[in-house]
Amino acid sequence: MAEAAFGGSGKQAQAVSDPSDTETISAAELAEIGLRFEVGGEIATITLDRPDRRNAQTFATWSALARIGENLPDQVRVVVIRGEGPSFSAGIDLRMFTADGIPGQGSFASYAGLDDTALERSIAEAQRGFLWLRRPDIVSIAAVQGHAIGAGFQLALACDLRVVGDDVKFCMKEPALGLVPDLTGTKPLVELVGVPRAIEICLTARTVGAAEALQLGLAEIAVPPGELAQAVADLAAALLGTDRNAAAATKRLLQGAATRTLEEQAAAERAEQAVRLRTLFASS
Ligand code: ACO
Repeated sequence: MAEAAFGGSGKQAQAVSDPSDTETISAAELAEIGLRFEVGGEIATITLDRPDRRNAQTFATWSALARIGENLPDQVRVVVIRGEGPSFSAGIDLRMFTADGIPGQGSFASYAGLDDTALERSIAEAQRGFLWLRRPDIVSIAAVQGHAIGAGFQLALACDLRVVGDDVKFCMKEPALGLVPDLTGTKPLVELVGVPRAIEICLTARTVGAAEALQLGLAEIAVPPGELAQAVADLAAALLGTDRNAAAATKRLLQGAATRTLEEQAAAERAEQAVRLRTLFASS
């Protein structure tokens, strides 16, 4: 099915088209796609590494992100996503809008020709690259400098936390291009800024800078671009200072709070605490 979308049998097309492929992705394959993946202790760092194209993303990028998530080493507790060069990410690779598309991955025109089931499955496959970043057992941090446009903004929104450079420029450009944001960004955006502000930001496709991002809750921390890496390292170190299982249980509680009643949330707190108490004190 997806082969029609990606229009070939090359390496990237295979990686993208087979959702059951959970094999660890090689550094060479990642480099070909424009990604780096490094693990140091409990911190994994994913780098968008196509600075000459302002870290434009493709379907191969999202498939690789999904595979990184599926194969994340057990010891990892913090995942940092950063971009090489002046921009975090200029969004989707604009070759998707051309007739030829991206070699091995097709074009938007080839997607438009898919039947409903195949098209839905292709978009779901892209979304898999983003969804795992909210897993309770990790905390994901986007380190964002410069432009974060479209898919770049949505990748930052897919993370639990955003640390930004003072030069950050968030922009949800999809509606200006006739598309909707479909890489899981609409829900976190609305949760952070509310429906009216989200409508205003998306439907004007305007740029949100660092000061406003802080004020709206789109960013937790803003620093001069030269201090971004250190600010992220400091935050990661602070996050690693808490008990691993308590952190995961607390994240589960916080993530579920918005959809539970107060009584339901209180019950969820009791259930999580019972596990904690028994784990910590049962043998004493
Ligand atoms: N896809 C493919 N190539 C890109 C993209 C992209 N999204 N963005 C930039 N590039 C390329 C440029 O074509 C240029 O290539 P060249 O050196 O061969 O001319 C190179 O990256 C550098 O880009 P510049 O525009 O020169 O860099 P600058 O720093 O001045 O501007 C900016 C950065 C603002 C991000 C600009 O490149 C831009 O507007 N890009 C397009 C953004 C966009 O519309 N993205 C789609 C959003 S919708 C979605 O993601 C679903």
